[in-house]
Amino acid sequence: MKKFSLQTRLFSGEGSLAALSRFHRQKIWVICDAFLAQSPLLKVLKAALPEDNQVTVFSDITPDPTIGTVAKGIEQMQQLRPEVVIGFGGGSAMDAAKAIVWFCRQQGIEINTCVAIPTTSGTGSEVTSACVISDPDRGIKYPLFDNDIYPDLAILDPALVVSVPPAITANTGMDVLTHALEAYVSPQASDFTDALAEKAASQVFNYLPTACRKGDCLATRGKMHNASTLAGMAFAQSGLGLNHAIAHQLGGQFHVAHGLANALLLVPVIRYNAADPRAMKRYARLARACLLAPAGSDDRSALNLLIARIEQLKQQCGLPGMRDALKVDRATFRARIPEMVSAALADVTLRTTPRPADSRAITTLLESLL
Ligand SMILES: NC(=O)c1ccc[n+]([C@@H]2O[C@H](COP(=O)([O-])OP(=O)(O)OC[C@H]3O[C@@H](n4cnc5c(N)ncnc54)[C@H](O)[C@@H]3O)[C@@H](O)[C@H]2O)c1
Ligand SMILES: [Zn+2]
Repeated sequence: MKKFSLQTRLFSGEGSLAALSRFHRQKIWVICDAFLAQSPLLKVLKAALPEDNQVTVFSDITPDPTIGTVAKGIEQMQQLRPEVVIGFGGGSAMDAAKAIVWFCRQQGIEINTCVAIPTTSGTGSEVTSACVISDPDRGIKYPLFDNDIYPDLAILDPALVVSVPPAITANTGMDVLTHALEAYVSPQASDFTDALAEKAASQVFNYLPTACRKGDCLATRGKMHNASTLAGMAFAQSGLGLNHAIAHQLGGQFHVAHGLANALLLVPVIRYNAADPRAMKRYARLARACLLAPAGSDDRSALNLLIARIEQLKQQCGLPGMRDALKVDRATFRARIPEMVSAALADVTLRTTPRPADSRAITTLLESLL
């Protein structure tokens, strides 16, 4: 049996911040990072909230939010007791907000509504039951999955993404593609998640290069913003896989941006997974669905066309290579491999990977990167 549930109410399109006009006479707590707190976007958000609300901001979130920041947020939440919490920003701010709300609700603190408003098009966190919290002392990122983590409401306004610079647009866009691909080859995939993943992947192939080049095109930004949410809806149900299990280690150990880590692993992981006959068929099917391969093509050539298109996309978006992304020498990287392997094996995303990966397989894959 496979389960599919929709738990987050969605508002999308230009002007959708107007959905915030529903809140009146509420204590509202906005959780974001320091960049957004100082950017004009926070003013735009505040302007969309009716004046009779009492709005305060917690802007301590840093990329890959830490256990310490979440603990600080919980402490402030216990004092402030807001009725509405808004996670405003990229995956880092939304994940932190979701984690803070989740822990507080578990302690019996009532929060009427958790709202997620993405300002990057990447993680899909606005519609997922996941949040990723980092332990910087141990160099580990912990993905938590729980049905009570879904935000109650999500707002997808493409105007909020226009200011994202090309490099972050590229990284986050590749995260969308990774979510779609991993959801598609997961053993938990269903017709429902396939439909979402196919649409998400095809929109990334069609719109990501333009989003990187012409960031002020609202129509293109809207396509990528929706693709991010579609892929999030898919993987929230079917899970992720080896790509994310290893990417979390590159993020935890070397602070490689999440989307970039995923992008650099995509092709080696696809090649590894494709040795499994079912996974190979699934990749080939996705390539045909995205019109990267002709309808009658055999699986092997469809797979090769998918890989070639991903390599081309990485180039079109100006992604750096592994050496530039990691910023460490080979010896330092190799010394951390055993730690990364054991953390990857314990990463919850590995549970839905299509081809089992043991310690030896992950070691070989990591060794091949640098
Ligand atoms: N919960 C999930 O389902 C899920 C899925 C994938 C990844 N994640 C997690 O999400 C985090 C990554 O999120 P992300 O990739 O969105 O990055 P991020 O939230 O760390 O943001 C990246 C950078 O973009 C900046 N930024 C955000 N919006 C901007 C805007 N509109 N204009 C200009 N700059 C802007 C931020 O200030 C930050 O410096 C990681 O911790 C990752 O593990 C969560
Ligand atoms: Zn991701």
